[in-house]
Amino acid sequence: MNNFELKNPTKIIFGKDTIEKLENEIPKDAKVLLLYGGGSIKKNGIYDQVKIALAKVDVIEFGGIPANPEYAILMEALKIIKDENITYLLAVGGGSVIDGTKFLSAAALFEGDNPWDILTQNIRSEKGMPFATVLTLPATGSEMNSGAVITRAETKEKLAMGGPGLFPVFSILDPQVITSIPERQLANGITDAFTHVLEQYMTYPIGALLQDRFAESILQTLIEVAPKVLKDPSDYKAASDFMWSCTMALNGLIQKGVPGDWAVHMMGHELTALFGIDHARTLAVIAPSHYKFNFEAKKEKLAQYGERVWNIAEGNTDDKAYAAIKKTEAFFQKLGIDTKLSDYTKDYEGTAEEIGKRFTDRGWLGLGEHQSLSPDKVEKIVKMAY
Ligand code: NZQ
Ligand code: ZN
Repeated sequence: MNNFELKNPTKIIFGKDTIEKLENEIPKDAKVLLLYGGGSIKKNGIYDQVKIALAKVDVIEFGGIPANPEYAILMEALKIIKDENITYLLAVGGGSVIDGTKFLSAAALFEGDNPWDILTQNIRSEKGMPFATVLTLPATGSEMNSGAVITRAETKEKLAMGGPGLFPVFSILDPQVITSIPERQLANGITDAFTHVLEQYMTYPIGALLQDRFAESILQTLIEVAPKVLKDPSDYKAASDFMWSCTMALNGLIQKGVPGDWAVHMMGHELTALFGIDHARTLAVIAPSHYKFNFEAKKEKLAQYGERVWNIAEGNTDDKAYAAIKKTEAFFQKLGIDTKLSDYTKDYEGTAEEIGKRFTDRGWLGLGEHQSLSPDKVEKIVKMAY
């Protein structure tokens, strides 16, 4: 195992009817900005639960953060934070609202002139305005990590940011919230969490036995609960396992001591920026091609995953590794997720070249666990995904 340091300060409050616990967690003297998305929380009762729990606190609201949180809209919220002397942020939503709130947490204390620099210049946020989350959509793990991804429509960019100052103080995870999530978003959540595990696992063996088994157990759990969650999101047992698997998939634990890849996400983010395709769906488009293209470098882990997660017993390492890619693709398709770019847009010609050029311009010359995935290889992978 590689050396590592692990610190995750986020307090998790998990379980039925836990939103009412907000009352004990938010400091009484805080001036809170409550942030939410397009309004689903007003239809499903989560907003009312939050408002009741915050009855004794000074709260201002900011709604309308869209899926793929948009910089221009967040800048409106930043003005309110400054004008109203806000001291605490509360995100009530999925990854988009939580990521938007993380950006605001950083931007509120940012000393430069242009907060977009936080994203383009890779400025690590050592300190942010304190914030907490009420998770409404299991998927990203943003509720227990310190990363965020922000979109800017004006420049068709989607860039990541983060730093140790951007962990939520606490996150409330009530699995009952998934009952109102549309099937498309449930499938997205399963796919996103599944791919998060793959990004931290599908590299090369280094003998980190426990880390591998943590990762495999999350994959197995997601495979087991996926049909139950899609069939009946009010199945509380399945919802609980689904929600906790998504959090555990990207809270820092399984990445420690092992190499990581993340190239699937970097390519996927470009497809969202260029075509507006849901984040999870871009991963399902890229992952199979990425694993086929990097087959030689990844086949040991692909075969191990095939054996342990998909129970593939027949054949040699190459056979098992190849079958594992096929199983993964079939799993996404069974969730209702298309796995080719041409399933989402007719305008795909030239996409691979555009993404290769963007990576070159940004100096992203070697992605992946070996820092060897150059822009020309990225181009080939994206083309394979057409
Ligand atoms: O906007 P509202 O009305 O709330 O509706 C949302 C939105 O339309 C809806 N929704 C959420 N909870 C619901 C619900 N509808 C009914 N009932 C509920 N309980 O679902 C839609 C999608 O929400 P969104 O927050 O966009 O989805 P998700 O959680 O998948 O987040 C995606 C974003 O997270 C980023 C992605 O790039 C994308 O921008 N990611 C963040 C990561 C991180 N911070 O660690 C890692 C990920 O890899 C990912 O990149
Ligand atoms: Zn993701």
